[in-house]
Amino acid sequence: MAGSGGLAGGAGGSQGTVGGPGAALRASRAPLLFAALVLGAYCLCALPGRCPPAGRVPAPAPARAEPPRASRSPGAPGLPVANGSGRRRFPQALIVGVKKGGTRALLEFLRLHPDIRALGSEPHFFDRCYERGLAWYRSLMPRTLDGQITLEKTPSYFVTREAPRRIHSMSPATKLIVVVRNPVTRAISDYAQTLSKTPGLPSFGALAFRRGLGPVDTAWSAVRIGLYAQHLDNWLRHFPLSRFLFVSGERLVSDPAGELGRVQDFLGLKRVVTDKHFYFNATKGFPCLKKAQGSGRPHCLGKSKGRPHPRVPEAVVQRLRAFYRPFNRKFYQMTGQDFGWD
Ligand code: A3P
Repeated sequence: MAGSGGLAGGAGGSQGTVGGPGAALRASRAPLLFAALVLGAYCLCALPGRCPPAGRVPAPAPARAEPPRASRSPGAPGLPVANGSGRRRFPQALIVGVKKGGTRALLEFLRLHPDIRALGSEPHFFDRCYERGLAWYRSLMPRTLDGQITLEKTPSYFVTREAPRRIHSMSPATKLIVVVRNPVTRAISDYAQTLSKTPGLPSFGALAFRRGLGPVDTAWSAVRIGLYAQHLDNWLRHFPLSRFLFVSGERLVSDPAGELGRVQDFLGLKRVVTDKHFYFNATKGFPCLKKAQGSGRPHCLGKSKGRPHPRVPEAVVQRLRAFYRPFNRKFYQMTGQDFGWD
């Protein structure tokens, strides 16, 4: 009876009829089922990604639309060389992190430099696609002339255990750029991104702490990524500190030209990208480019960069701040830079 009542209730339920203990049971389970579905979908999204199938590899950076530049090859000093010439090389520099730090902004700004050629998409070679081999990796890179720098960015490298050893075996001279941002804001930004893809996600606080307001859940990637000192420790087993540049995600917003100046110095390049390239777009609330590369028109980053953040209770923020404080201090000591998050 209960079974048939349940069936009838189920069929009727979709037409708005209510009745029987089965229906009541189902009604009480419905929120649980929904939460389980949302969590399941979220867990699937949060799993480390796979290398895309061979046909869907990232496309090499598009050819520049601006006039060709002078080659630096000794055989042809000062002579312009057409687009498409040069060789595909391994990147001499990588933006290795951190997710939601401002890595896309940095890459887009650096692309304005005539001596930088950057891959537009994230190849995920040193975390997800390593078995494809170095020759495959190099085939993704844009062509460069002698003296130009090949650059790619994949923010998950910073938190991938094997990435430093793998990058070191490609070249121990690789320059490593890490954009870091207050780990609490970074975690909220990460959560905002997941929420935009998984509506109905439990609250930020529910995910950040175990059992309500219990201990901080460091197994949650949004929290774990912000333990910068721990991740850096792993990198320093393979690379000396001098191989790194730490870019402040906060200053990248408040003074993009200043941070870009430091990056160009680190890469051994002339300071070509300067404050004359930026303007503050009040609607976007972020610095934008006066002229996009190749188009000559103003350009801001897309909607997924500079998203509004969900409101997180102050108590949750304060607890997380306190949690990160010792890790931040350690990170300041390790890098010799105070990022001012505390
Ligand atoms: P929010 O969307 O939380 O504001 P990433 O590119 O590494 O995913 O980082 C995204 C973050 O870059 C954004 O996080 C935003 O704060 C930051 N950012 C820095 N400079 C920016 C700019 N000029 N335009 C848009 N976002 C910028």
